[in-house]
Amino acid sequence: MDKIIVHGGRSLSGTVKISGSKNSALPILAATLLTREPCIIHSVPDLSDIHYMLQILSHLGAQVERASGTVTIQADKVSTVAPYEIVRKMRASVCVLGPLLGRHKEARVSLPGGCVIGDRPIDLHLKGFRALNAACRVEAGDVKVFADELRGATVDLEGRQGPTVLGTGNVMMAATLAEGVTVIEGAAAEPEVVDLANFLGKMGAKIEGAGTRRITIEGVKELHGAEHSVIPDRIEAGTFLVAAALAGREVTLRRVNAEHLNAVTNAISDAGFRLHIQRDSITVFGNGSSLPVHLITEPYPGFPTDMQAQMCALLSRANGESSVTETVFPQRFMHVSELKRMGADIALEGATARINGVARLSGAPVMASDLRASAALVLAGLVADGTTEVNRVYHIDRGYESIDEKLMGLGAEIERVKNQL
Ligand code: UD1
Repeated sequence: MDKIIVHGGRSLSGTVKISGSKNSALPILAATLLTREPCIIHSVPDLSDIHYMLQILSHLGAQVERASGTVTIQADKVSTVAPYEIVRKMRASVCVLGPLLGRHKEARVSLPGGCVIGDRPIDLHLKGFRALNAACRVEAGDVKVFADELRGATVDLEGRQGPTVLGTGNVMMAATLAEGVTVIEGAAAEPEVVDLANFLGKMGAKIEGAGTRRITIEGVKELHGAEHSVIPDRIEAGTFLVAAALAGREVTLRRVNAEHLNAVTNAISDAGFRLHIQRDSITVFGNGSSLPVHLITEPYPGFPTDMQAQMCALLSRANGESSVTETVFPQRFMHVSELKRMGADIALEGATARINGVARLSGAPVMASDLRASAALVLAGLVADGTTEVNRVYHIDRGYESIDEKLMGLGAEIERVKNQL
């Protein structure tokens, strides 16, 4: 397993180009299963989660070709069974269920693995499929969904923790080929759901209301091939904004959609950093230390849970006491104990982290079992005294395209040590 070694104390400056969104690309790639015609997807990031999804699609029988950021997929004939060996590596494999159910009226997929951020059920996905007249069973670790005919219906997908992003996408994909009209109440409004709906629209689907809490899908007989560019990754962008705030003099992010980042830029600005925001670029002016802020993670357009760990790293050096409350994944605090090992002063009270800013962090060997938590440790390492060794880097590689190279391009001193046992 690779590890990343960060030598703290270098200041960052320059420009970094943000990659295509992982969380958009995954369901969009799965959506290509809805047609037998070829689909061309651009700005697909080079990440291990994307490789897993392409492996699943190939395993299901799709022809997959990849040339740098462009992937061409033709799912002429596909099987409907995705086995454990392939899907266990990534939770988002669950999003092949919707398109397979839509097109073939059946699918069997192993229950997902993936990030260890608490219990991650798929009951809401199944609630949506059932509403469309499908039967759902769990058998030998697999979830099996099938229907004689999919029929449009009204279904509320709001769960105890709010809306579900992949669940909304999954049910939306199945409903594109259902008979009649489906209305998803309590839908997720994340930009990734809108991007998926836009792609499905190019394939011939009739969808209205994506980006709001109520999505209407009028089923069609079949979908056709389409070409699409994935939106910029707002979480990668947010991570670089925090890196710049922590360790930057002046850093510009290019290829961003600034509108998708409002909650994050507001938080960074509340923390005392100056930002110059344009439609597709953002410049952050680092100033060394930040002000405390009080944050609550929420579904979009609220502050994203996927930026919570990185903000904890930033606030661990703020001038005063901050709080960060997690409402989407209340147990998502694996980074806290590791940040404490680097000298951060953080106390967990239920789903709230109380962060007492400290003047210095010190480098240490650390590891985390979650993608964003691992990124937060790299960020903390940028400003820590000495050397931070971030182990289990495969978590970072799941979601950040060349994070080490991009940070080095801004002046960070980072090494990747290959193949540690
Ligand atoms: C997606 C993102 C992930 C992000 C999350 C929340 C992808 C590949 N991943 O994950 O990075 O952190 O949205 O923004 O897009 N829930 C249920 N039942 C369900 C489904 C979810 O109770 O059937 C709960 C979850 O446990 C969680 C909350 O709903 O507490 C939100 O989860 P959800 O939006 O579904 O997350 P994902 O779509 O898996």
